[in-house]
Amino acid sequence: MSHPIPVDFPPALEVFGRHRSVRFFLPDPLAPGDLDLIVEAGRRAPTDAQGHMYACVRITDTILRDRLATLCADQQHIRDAAEFFVVCLDVHRLRRLIEYRGREWGMCARIALLYGATDATMVAQNMLVAAEALGYGACYIGAVQNNVDVIAQELNLPPGVLPLYGLCIGVIDPAHYPPLKPRIPRDLCFFENSYPRDFSAQALETAYAAMSVKRDWLDSIGVYFATGGTMGRREPIMARAWRQQALDPQPME
Ligand SMILES: Cc1cc2nc3c(=O)[nH]c(=O)nc-3n(C[C@H](O)[C@H](O)[C@H](O)COP(=O)(O)O)c2cc1C
Repeated sequence: MSHPIPVDFPPALEVFGRHRSVRFFLPDPLAPGDLDLIVEAGRRAPTDAQGHMYACVRITDTILRDRLATLCADQQHIRDAAEFFVVCLDVHRLRRLIEYRGREWGMCARIALLYGATDATMVAQNMLVAAEALGYGACYIGAVQNNVDVIAQELNLPPGVLPLYGLCIGVIDPAHYPPLKPRIPRDLCFFENSYPRDFSAQALETAYAAMSVKRDWLDSIGVYFATGGTMGRREPIMARAWRQQALDPQPME
């Protein structure tokens, strides 16, 4: 059974029901104390094995912010948002803590990449939900990967620290409040007990039907995920950054 959105969320969950990525911000700061609330909400996220494998770099230097915006596909909302964080996976600090007390560092790149990305994403998403609950708008910036090697250097990131994405948070410009975007049908993503053997043509069409609002959804995902798309072009840059930050997984056997 397909579950169209929006569903009616009860008041406690209403913040999830109204999420949309916001890209137009008023030139206002967050209200006093709100940034601390958002950061503390982030810090309360679960963390794998208590490793805290994340770092968030708040960008307050306007020249650096402008440079990062340019490096991230020149996205103006990075410049306009009251706050901009570069969210990173981070095993550098964890390694320092282990070695500081005389133990040998025993972790490898696969764990760092997977668990670090997981930890960091939980922190970032807690921050996004907290910001939205307080009435602000937010937007992730995956285009950090367009120049992730350069950005790692700009931020003086040591080996073991890798930018994942940016996070804009700011005061919503009501003149440009975006509509809710659809999601693909629930029964294509949530399964019971086992993964389906295949997706039927009919099932795939339900996804296109749900997602093709203003234009065919293939135009949107094709730009990113089809041959020659943005994601493929990021691959060599990411490979370079993983090597540069000492996070390149070594072949096993
Ligand atoms: C990891 C990640 C990276 C993203 N990168 C960008 C980005 O670089 N620029 C942007 O404007 N939106 C970015 N987005 C926002 C997505 O475009 C947005 O979440 C998606 O279109 C769904 O729309 P909604 O968030 O309004 O529901 C990103 C979202 C995620 C989760």
